[in-house]
Amino acid sequence: MNKKVTVKTLADKKNSQEKITMLTAYDYPMAKLIDQAGIDIILVGDSLGMVVLGHENTLEVTLDDMIHHTKAVSRGSKSALIVSDLPFMSYKTSDLNKTVENAGRILKEAGAEAVKLEGGSELIAEIEAIIKAGIPVMGHLGLTPQSVNQFGGFKVQAKEEKAARKLIEDAKALEEAGVFAIVLECIPAELAKEISQILEVPTIGIGAGQDCDGQVLVHQDLLGISPDFTPKFVRKYENLSERITDALKEFKVDVETGSFPNDDESF
Ligand code: KIV
Repeated sequence: MNKKVTVKTLADKKNSQEKITMLTAYDYPMAKLIDQAGIDIILVGDSLGMVVLGHENTLEVTLDDMIHHTKAVSRGSKSALIVSDLPFMSYKTSDLNKTVENAGRILKEAGAEAVKLEGGSELIAEIEAIIKAGIPVMGHLGLTPQSVNQFGGFKVQAKEEKAARKLIEDAKALEEAGVFAIVLECIPAELAKEISQILEVPTIGIGAGQDCDGQVLVHQDLLGISPDFTPKFVRKYENLSERITDALKEFKVDVETGSFPNDDESF
């Protein structure tokens, strides 16, 4: 069995310049495979809404959805650090107590070990309150999908100087508030490099170039089983969609021709 990953492991990895790996999972079997592969962090992302539940974006994902899927993931994972997304409108409310209660439910009821939330300096009070309750927080800057309607689509962020400066300030503010790592999504590689050099906490990139302290992908993308669009930054290590479709067609033919089940497959 691989050694248990904690937030301390991630800090140590940054200090010793070892890259951090993170993949999404939403169910027991995939969590088990990812864990056995020695990936450092399993993210129960609210990308769940798009790649599993078939929504157009992540906005409809509920706290109960996240708890349901995190429970399955935590049953499958022994070594990886389990981080779960706080879904849209579960933390950007005026009620700090509710925010802490929501974050707490993901740990207490579902077995996550940390939460991730999207946003910068506007969220410092929320982040500090969650951390004060003993819950580690991962930040998420750049293309934050819960703000897709403000961005006008899933687009590369912080390309202009002013936005880039703001992102650097946000990253520093999150670190100051106590996050243990920050996801940088879809920002120019040079900017991600600068932030990764400035911060003491690790950065984990997705569409943010090779100089982040780690990399994350949605597992359906890297395995080639995303039902719809695959972003430019994804490297596909498999084309499972085709292989699964072929297997399903073979099963259909075998049943229709009477070759399945055979004697060995019968009692
Ligand atoms: O929801 C998610 O899967 C994410 C990753 C893409 C970072 O936030």
